[in-house]
Amino acid sequence: MNKKAFIFDLDGVIVDTAKYHFLAWQKIAAELGIEFTPEHNEELKGVSRVRSLDLILELGRMTASQQDKDRWLKQKNEDYLSYLVHMDQSEILPGVLHILQFLKEHHQPIALGSASKNARPILEKTGIIHYFDAIVDGNDVTNAKPDPEVFLQAARQIGATNQNAIVFEDSVAGIQAANIAGMISIGIGEAGILKEAQYNFPDFVHIDTSFIEYIIKK
Ligand code: BG6
Ligand code: MG
Repeated sequence: MNKKAFIFDLDGVIVDTAKYHFLAWQKIAAELGIEFTPEHNEELKGVSRVRSLDLILELGRMTASQQDKDRWLKQKNEDYLSYLVHMDQSEILPGVLHILQFLKEHHQPIALGSASKNARPILEKTGIIHYFDAIVDGNDVTNAKPDPEVFLQAARQIGATNQNAIVFEDSVAGIQAANIAGMISIGIGEAGILKEAQYNFPDFVHIDTSFIEYIIKK
């Protein structure tokens, strides 16, 4: 059997933190007088912090000095982290633990492939860091999704080929990154938004273990 690598995005896939990123960005946008809706936010999902701010400024047709940008980036992260202070296992999205457990029982390598620089503390707070054989996050990569760097590094660390890597993603940029890498892309969320994914599920509750078995044998 070929060695597989199951690569999970973090925000919006494992934990329900996408809403906190949105709230924190919305606050910055409001201060700048820029209208920022959930539809706009879809383009920010999976995208690095620095690139996200640039997209918001583009939306408001604004330019800013590096000094101002650094201040807003700091402010955004402080605000975001304030939502995570009391974070625990209850923030893990439904069905995720069941799949992680199933993969472990079937001796499948598991990796994290996230754009976030806050990934490790989140995995620790939620008590699931021990499931991961490799963790690649925003501190390890120079190119943000849709560049496949984060997933390529994760597969390499596990020793799997790209063709044998399976990526769970909730963002358009992340699905594109997985596809560019030649990996199997699984969209978690609205199929209408994640149109480019090879498989779509609304959430992990809808992923049957027989589907995982099929992917392992594929
Ligand atoms: C991604 C999120 O996982 O991480 C983005 O989808 C976020 O919304 C990005 O901007 C960077 O996260 P952080 O925690 O480093 O600001
Ligand atoms: Mg995500």
